[in-house]
Amino acid sequence: MAPRWWLLILFLGGSVLQASSQPNSRGFISIDCGLMGEESYVDDETNLLYVSDAGITDTGTPYNISAEYYRPWRSRNVRSLRSFPDGARNCYTLRSLVSGLKYLFRATFLYGNYDGLNKPPTSFDLYIGVNFWTVVNMSWWGSDQDNRAEVEAIVVVPHDLVQVCLVNTGGGTPFISGLELRPLKMSLYPQATAELGLFVRRRQNFGAINETIIRFPDDPYDRIWDTWSDATMWAEMTTTERVNRLDGDYFEAPMAVLQTAITPLNASGSIKFGWDAEPQPNNLSPGYLAVLHFAELQLLDGDALRQFNISLNDESRFPGYTPPGYLNRGYVYNSFPYPRVSSYDFSLNATANTTLPPIINAYEVFSVITTTNVGTEPQDASAAMTIKAKYKVQKNWMGDPCFPKTMTWDSLNCSYATASPPRITSINLSSSGLNGDISSSFGNLKALEYLNLSNNNLTGSIPDSLSQLQSLTDIDLSGNQLNGSIPSGLLKRIQDGSLNLRHGNNPNLCTGNNTCQLAAKRKSKLAIYVVVPLFVIVVIVSVAAVVLFLLRRRKQPQGSMDNMVTIKPQNEEEMPTSHGGANYSLRLLENCQFTYKELKMITNGFERVLGQGGFGRVYDGFLEDGTQVAVKLRSHSSNQGVKEFLAEARILTRVHHKNLVTMIGYCKDGEYMALVYEYMSQGTLQEHIAGRGRSLPWWQRLRIALESAQGLEYLHTACNPPLIHRDVKATNILLNARLEAKIADFGLSKAFDRHNGNYISTNALVGTPGYVDPEYQATVQPTTKSDVYSFGVVLLELVTGKPAILSEPEPTNIIHWVRQRLARGNIEGVVDVQMQGGYNVNSVWKVAEIALKCTAQASAQRPSMADVVAQLQECVVLEGGHTPDFNTGGRNSDYSSWNYNACAGGQSTDVSRNAAFGTELRMPTVGLGLAPATR
Ligand SMILES: *[C@@H]1O[C@H](CO)[C@@H](O)[C@H](O)[C@H]1NC(C)=O
Ligand SMILES: *[C@@H]1O[C@H](CO)[C@@H](O)[C@H](O)[C@H]1NC(C)=O
Ligand SMILES: *[C@@H]1O[C@H](CO)[C@@H](O)[C@H](O)[C@H]1NC(C)=O
Ligand SMILES: *[C@@H]1O[C@H](CO)[C@@H](O)[C@H](O)[C@H]1NC(C)=O
Ligand SMILES: *[C@@H]1O[C@H](CO)[C@@H](O)[C@H](O)[C@H]1NC(C)=O
Ligand SMILES: *[C@@H]1O[C@H](CO)[C@@H](O)[C@H](O)[C@H]1NC(C)=O
Repeated sequence: MAPRWWLLILFLGGSVLQASSQPNSRGFISIDCGLMGEESYVDDETNLLYVSDAGITDTGTPYNISAEYYRPWRSRNVRSLRSFPDGARNCYTLRSLVSGLKYLFRATFLYGNYDGLNKPPTSFDLYIGVNFWTVVNMSWWGSDQDNRAEVEAIVVVPHDLVQVCLVNTGGGTPFISGLELRPLKMSLYPQATAELGLFVRRRQNFGAINETIIRFPDDPYDRIWDTWSDATMWAEMTTTERVNRLDGDYFEAPMAVLQTAITPLNASGSIKFGWDAEPQPNNLSPGYLAVLHFAELQLLDGDALRQFNISLNDESRFPGYTPPGYLNRGYVYNSFPYPRVSSYDFSLNATANTTLPPIINAYEVFSVITTTNVGTEPQDASAAMTIKAKYKVQKNWMGDPCFPKTMTWDSLNCSYATASPPRITSINLSSSGLNGDISSSFGNLKALEYLNLSNNNLTGSIPDSLSQLQSLTDIDLSGNQLNGSIPSGLLKRIQDGSLNLRHGNNPNLCTGNNTCQLAAKRKSKLAIYVVVPLFVIVVIVSVAAVVLFLLRRRKQPQGSMDNMVTIKPQNEEEMPTSHGGANYSLRLLENCQFTYKELKMITNGFERVLGQGGFGRVYDGFLEDGTQVAVKLRSHSSNQGVKEFLAEARILTRVHHKNLVTMIGYCKDGEYMALVYEYMSQGTLQEHIAGRGRSLPWWQRLRIALESAQGLEYLHTACNPPLIHRDVKATNILLNARLEAKIADFGLSKAFDRHNGNYISTNALVGTPGYVDPEYQATVQPTTKSDVYSFGVVLLELVTGKPAILSEPEPTNIIHWVRQRLARGNIEGVVDVQMQGGYNVNSVWKVAEIALKCTAQASAQRPSMADVVAQLQECVVLEGGHTPDFNTGGRNSDYSSWNYNACAGGQSTDVSRNAAFGTELRMPTVGLGLAPATR
């Protein structure tokens, strides 16, 4: 009997147990406002970790609602809240978002007589960044008798930092109970763009079983699907069969939502539903967008037809609509808002020819929020926030420093130009009780003209960085405790008359006098005698520590996983007594082997299909700690190659790099073989460059190129003989919640027929048309340079936004297409028009050049992956500025720089190492045709 153990795998980078307002492994941020007494808790219903708001706002007062408003069915989120009696605008600052990504924002409000006054505010305004989100009104729909309101929006965030602000408009004290952020796949909700956000008005699931609200984990994006049932109007239909997924699905309605539907009670009837427009001026939306979700739940016989007309306010919108066949999903939606009227009524009427009544499974309605307001230039805003935090400035310093004009921070002046974001031009913090040294962040305010810090208690020296501020003409530092001398840069600017510096009344400040220079010299001597030896000691100690660490690591090859994996027995009683707990854990850790039963639990009975590949279906699953995983399952496998499969899989669980999709475990249990991978929520690179939905900007493409190159370089260098991928392509590069790229589907030999999954004993050519190295094609001997070739094709796809094989006007290889155009010096004719010029021409040129070198006919002329990485790094530098969090993404260590041989170690693996990874394919190899995990 297989011991019933559970692997509890905690990735450092995505630990759900970490209590902070940082995004979790899925990129979710879940905040319980006003939570006190404990920092965080795991919500019973969703199993998500909610954290206190204490670290993300510095104003407001926490409260609990009155006990009589506690309800057992309510989420715990609404029990506490934060109220903002002071100031016109109060904000939450959310960090570590992914700039350019689409997020679902949800804010919850429940008054619950928290202040004992029994007088909820009538209304206040809510903003996402500098853009108006909604009026929060405790009395219109969306709120219930207990004065509860919940608002949702889908917006593209412009920066990695976003503020959510409550603005007091005279309707009572603003408050908030909960704030949740959920990243969405970029391709979802194509109506939401950088300029337009969607305000969610309705999201309703028809015929829900027992009126259960559907959200996470049934909906991986944690949208909330309310229920609507009315047995007097509609008959309900349900199925337990799986509703098929749809490639390129724009809305990804959860399976549980599509498994229920309604039809009219009598066959000739129609389905009607609608909504009222919110009163102006609360809602400035030009109109509404709707999405109607359908799935046929009845197996129709030959002559049966379900066909209906969809009309809105008696105007035909989608005539003769037929839901896609049995258990397939479909939707209809409008891209441009339905113009504003006072109310909207959809009706679904049977056509003349139909034999079955209309059906509908769910619908969503949105109004539109314009998100074209531009906040303060990000570097200015960030510097101002740092200054605020450093000196604990009270005043009204909340939200965006310059926007809107009416709420510009006190003591600050901004300049406003039409075509560019507002800049901070002056700061007057005179007599503001500032302590400490002069923040270096002042040096980041590049448009600053006037700076007054007089009459404070500032200490330390004057930073020379101020002299770099070209627009700065006046500095007043008088009346402080500054010391040191005036930096030479500033002196120069004073001498040439471009700067006026006041520094009187700083008793310890040296102003170019001889006596001072002496004092300064003495100081620098002191530095040599004291600071330098100290530095040397620190260096020696650090080096020793690193050496010791590395030595330890060498001794225990599995050490790389010590940091990443912990193991917890599920059932203490069944723990075998003959094993010490630790030893047993280690053995499990070595194997990372799951039983079929465990996989069934992880995937909740193989419920949600993420994709379908040659290896088999890919399922969504959760480990016990909530870590989301993708399970690739194959059944009816023959016994051929099982030993090799196990040996290979065991090795792959040891290959770790931040740019390789981590294989968490595997399974060989009876007829089942399975592989368990980390979940990559943003899907394949292909989906992001194929031009559907919002397409990636150049700096993000460049970053993805570098990250994937690093992953491949690791494969090529970490193992000896090198691991050759053999099927590098855009669908084998997956993106996680932070849009970080990781190489997928590597390692297992590919001599498996992708179509029928049969084991092939001969060395078959593997790869995908358009990506295959011509030399490999000729020799059937893959080398690392075959991967380089394929990677070159991926680079070309990133530059052009076009597929590896172009179909128009006639089938052409992308390499040929690009070479032809570049030969004429025409880079603009090659670059993806969707990037709309948002790139540095030099960096695009350079990437195109790298790509063409990679795709050279003769492998000897191609660079190595290490060369490619170095070149791409230069491109990132050329692009400049746009990649603030570069290389800081994954918290998993980058083992490649340690030259840690993940493939060595482990006694039992030696036998098959050559077969699994060899460049020579003389031995019969076995492997699994892991087709791309299309998600
Ligand atoms: C709310 O209640 C919790 C426990 O019930 C308590 O720890 C916390 O201090 C209360 N918060 C406030 C603001 O009173
Ligand atoms: C719905 O409710 C009934 C009665 O309360 C219960 O027996 C049934 O199991 C529920 N169904 C589901 C799917 O929860
Ligand atoms: C749909 O049917 C309803 C009644 O069944 C009718 O009132 C309505 O006018 C019809 N709409 C259209 C567009 O035919
Ligand atoms: C209904 O059936 C008739 C005859 O088969 C056909 O001519 C007509 O186009 C059909 N109408 C629709 C809306 O499909
Ligand atoms: C400086 O700090 C002292 C106490 O530390 C205080 O008395 C004095 O008012 C402060 N000066 C200014 C200008 O804020
Ligand atoms: C230099 O020091 C003398 C006193 O030693 C003082 O009178 C003079 O003002 C100082 N010069 C400057 C530029 O501060």
